Amino acid sequence: MKSEIKIGVLVSGGGTNLQSIMDACAAGEINGRVVCVISNVADAFALERARQAGIPAIFLNHRDYAGRRSYDEALVEALKGHEVDLVVMAGFMRIITEVLLDPFPQAVMNIHPSLLPAFPGLYPQRQALEYGAKVSGCTVHFVDAGTDTGPIIAQAAVPVLENDTEEALSARILMEEHRIYPEAVKLFAQGRLTVEGRRVVVAPE
Ligand code: GRF
Repeated sequence: MKSEIKIGVLVSGGGTNLQSIMDACAAGEINGRVVCVISNVADAFALERARQAGIPAIFLNHRDYAGRRSYDEALVEALKGHEVDLVVMAGFMRIITEVLLDPFPQAVMNIHPSLLPAFPGLYPQRQALEYGAKVSGCTVHFVDAGTDTGPIIAQAAVPVLENDTEEALSARILMEEHRIYPEAVKLFAQGRLTVEGRRVVVAPE
């Protein structure tokens, strides 16, 4: 049995993806443990979720730092301080730089609520509706220097229904996020993910 991985989670909002990963760890589905949760938003409910679980909840105010790189240096210091093996971005609303990526090669994940490469950037659910897409979904990927461009680990599709609202589609996608993100983290913890060019190869169990 591999030793459990230490997971650091970066959040800005409600933290439902964080919760799904904490729950999967607690249920023994992921051979890992969330060891710290860091947010750039002081009152992010995700921090409250961490506190309720007895997990260090850290507010790092990006206004206290000169720029992205110095903020990322502070993130790395906090993550390394908790001996994090995998950085999970879960609703984290900041662009990160190589200052954060370089110390965690192929060990920073993000989830995006569309089927990348479709609809990168902000409000992807709204983009899908406005485009007239009939199917959308969510994507877990390794983070690279681009925005929503890293190698894809897992995806799930959901239908776009007639008269769908942004809220209804977002809720439908979010259900799938809560399924595939823990699954992606589980695969990482099992050492079954390798990146070959653009492709993420998932080794058999
Ligand atoms: C989710 O749609 C996620 O894809 C996006 O932020 C939304 C809220 O996530 N990144 P959470 O509830 O804060 O995990």
